Amino acid sequence: MKDLDLFKRLSKRLDNLEKLPKLDEQKSIPKVLQEKGISRREFISWATSIAAMLSLPASFTPLVAKATELSDRLPIIWLHMAECTGCSESLLRTDAPSIDSLIFDYISLEYHETLMASAGWQAEANLEHAIEKYKGNYILMVEGGIPSGQTDFYLTIGGHANTGEQNAKVACEHAKAIFAIGSCSSFGGVQAAIPNPTGAVSLSKITNKSVINVPGCPPSEKNIVGTLLHYILYGSLPALDAYNRPKWAYGQRIHDLCERRGHFDAGEFVEKFGDEGSKKGYCLYKVGCKGPYTFNNCSKNKFNQHTSWPIQAGHGCIGCSEPDFWDKMGPFEEPVGDKLYNTVFGGAGADATADKIGVGILATAAVGITAHAIISKVKNPIEDEEH
Ligand code: SF4
Ligand code: F3S
Repeated sequence: MKDLDLFKRLSKRLDNLEKLPKLDEQKSIPKVLQEKGISRREFISWATSIAAMLSLPASFTPLVAKATELSDRLPIIWLHMAECTGCSESLLRTDAPSIDSLIFDYISLEYHETLMASAGWQAEANLEHAIEKYKGNYILMVEGGIPSGQTDFYLTIGGHANTGEQNAKVACEHAKAIFAIGSCSSFGGVQAAIPNPTGAVSLSKITNKSVINVPGCPPSEKNIVGTLLHYILYGSLPALDAYNRPKWAYGQRIHDLCERRGHFDAGEFVEKFGDEGSKKGYCLYKVGCKGPYTFNNCSKNKFNQHTSWPIQAGHGCIGCSEPDFWDKMGPFEEPVGDKLYNTVFGGAGADATADKIGVGILATAAVGITAHAIISKVKNPIEDEEH
């Protein structure tokens, strides 16, 4: 679709959204930003960066700003399953709130166990009430893997001892859109790691409805907020990859967006943590970096108020946004090459590539092709199970 057509379509969508009543008359994003000392200029510059992240031209910035301001029109229910709350923390835990975390404060979170004041019977009643009141109209965000089947009792919540699986199923049934936030909800995560004693599964395994996965351990706040804003803007699902991850966020490999990539291509590697190569910022492949097999935009968004990300901090990527990373990417500080790569190019895997080819375009292309081939190889069994 041409930019102008798209602009018109999104404008119309936002105009319609604007006609819906605000869910809380006391709140307004411009007011919140003003109270926190964030200027309009900073807000617009943030909206420009979100537009770029969603692969929209800069001319769409006013639409992104408007979508943000309209984020109070859509009720959100956020459920916690078996997890560490790290995904909520990714968004909220900050000594100087970013615009992303402020927006999260501002949107209409009808139910969020970490943030709401109520507990026990009252909390359960709130959840039932929110589902009933906004039936068919709320956005459901779920954090955590879900103990299911015969072992669903490993996660029970509240006075009625509903299992997480029961709660999630009911909430999915009446949701307008469903987002699995984090690798646990997207793929089962560490809960589902072998031998998976609680029978934890991804959200997509307990519902027949479409689930948009936003994996990461945790995902960046930008990917969470961006997914929400994309939905507000378009009112439909984004382009998704084979694992139902939005392509705008998970369409490229860590390896292809990495600031150390020049060192990989030049055959300059950290051989041991703390060595001279470490000090020079060399490539972390030989100390276990899984960037060649991992799809995410961490180097663009970063974490901790956008200050750093794992590879910048000196540790390799552990592949946390990939399915079953806990089982497939380990040991985290050793190259996984032989385990994954030996089936391709007659056994000349990534280790061989890094050690023996290691320099220039040939190595780059070989690893790129290999990673994609391997990823589709390890992907298929899971896809078969999930779909
Ligand atoms: Fe970056 Fe890791 Fe790729 Fe090296 S192997 S270039 S550290 S992503
Ligand atoms: Fe996870 Fe790798 Fe990013 S470990 S946070 S996908 S750099």
